Amino acid sequence: MSTLFVCITCRREGDPPADIRPGARLYAALKAEAGDIDVQPVECLSNCTRSCTAAVAAPGKWTYVVGHLDPDRNVPDMVHFARLHQASADGLTAWRDRPVHVRKNTIARVPPMPIVKEPS
Ligand code: FES
Repeated sequence: MSTLFVCITCRREGDPPADIRPGARLYAALKAEAGDIDVQPVECLSNCTRSCTAAVAAPGKWTYVVGHLDPDRNVPDMVHFARLHQASADGLTAWRDRPVHVRKNTIARVPPMPIVKEPS
C-alpha cells in the first residue's frame, strides 16, 4: 500500500493569513478523497519555499516528493498519482501517465531502501 505524506505546516507565499494553514487544508482534502490510499500528516518535508508539499512512498518502492500543490486545485492530481504509484511494482510510473502538475513539480525521487540480509 502506498502512503501519501502531507506537510500540514506548509504556508504558501502570498497567501493571506488563515486560521488553517494551506498544508492542513491539503491534508484534509486528500484524506477525504484518497480512498484506499493511506494519508498521513507530517510537519515539514523541507520543501517550504515550494509549498504545499506531499510525498508518496511505499516499502520497496521509489519515493516521490511533489511541490507547489494548491489545496483547491491539485487534490485529484495527487490522488491519481498515488494510485499509479500503488499499482506500480517499484513505484516508477510512466512520465506521460503522470498528471501535468506532478510532471512539472516533482522535487525529488528517492530510491527504495536496500534490503539488508541478516548474516546466516
Ligand atoms: S513547512 Fe511544509 S515543507 Fe516545510
